[in-house]
Amino acid sequence: MSTPNEKPGKIGVFDSGYGGLTILKEIRRRLPEYEYLYLGDNARAPYGNRSFDIVYDFTREAVENLFARGCHLVILACNTASAKALRSVQQRILPERYPGRRVLGVIRPTVEILGNITESRHVGLFATPGTVNSHSYRLEMAKLWPGVHITEMACPMWVPLVEAGEADGPGADYFVMKYADSLLNSDPKIDTIVLGCTHYPLLLPKIREYVRDSIRILPQGEIVAESLADYLRRHPEMEEKCLKGGRVEFLTTESEERFDSLASLFMNEEVHSRRIIL
Ligand code: DGL
Repeated sequence: MSTPNEKPGKIGVFDSGYGGLTILKEIRRRLPEYEYLYLGDNARAPYGNRSFDIVYDFTREAVENLFARGCHLVILACNTASAKALRSVQQRILPERYPGRRVLGVIRPTVEILGNITESRHVGLFATPGTVNSHSYRLEMAKLWPGVHITEMACPMWVPLVEAGEADGPGADYFVMKYADSLLNSDPKIDTIVLGCTHYPLLLPKIREYVRDSIRILPQGEIVAESLADYLRRHPEMEEKCLKGGRVEFLTTESEERFDSLASLFMNEEVHSRRIIL
């Protein structure tokens, strides 16, 4: 339970695996003064094909683990968890058990800026099957930008390619081309595509090859970082509870060696993680 006198804690950043590192990187660039605690549930990734109940259970376990490690604020740096578990976590466990703590997702801040970017009023989304089936993007778009048409494309093979360290490999081309063609054939008027999965920026160079230059491709890192900066500005009571010092600690549910070698590539710096069990 949170009490007003609790010590400041690190900002928690959670993803099913490596994808959230693309968000963490931008958050640290934008807000270097804070301390961060990253948790990748690599042993149970990907989440993208799992049911609502399972994604909720896994996400709740991760969030409670980060709370137990002193985080007051946790970012779900995962669209699948944001789509399938954020609201339930916010409604079912925060008010009663963790009244002073907050969990924020990545979908709302992304949708908030989308309508200002598209000129054709036709946007596309690449995301996991879980995010697409939840239609969270479509529902949020309908609320915030009712005049903008969104086509959602599930890309079930992309997260496994990234988690396997194959994002640059020749095998990735086939699946990038397949989903890119499908999306653009479904709606040729699309002028903006959201990478609605935090793993996908690792595939960006390949996605760029199969999407015409006039189409803008939006990764979420900078958007989420800016939205977090805005949140902390508007919530000084939470900002005070965020530890400063500029360090970052990494936790994974898989083996440390495996996490460290891939995570170091994603972060462009040496990463030393600790394995935990959720
Ligand atoms: N990075 C998660 C997301 O943004 C990933 C997915 C997964 O585990 O399938 O949706």
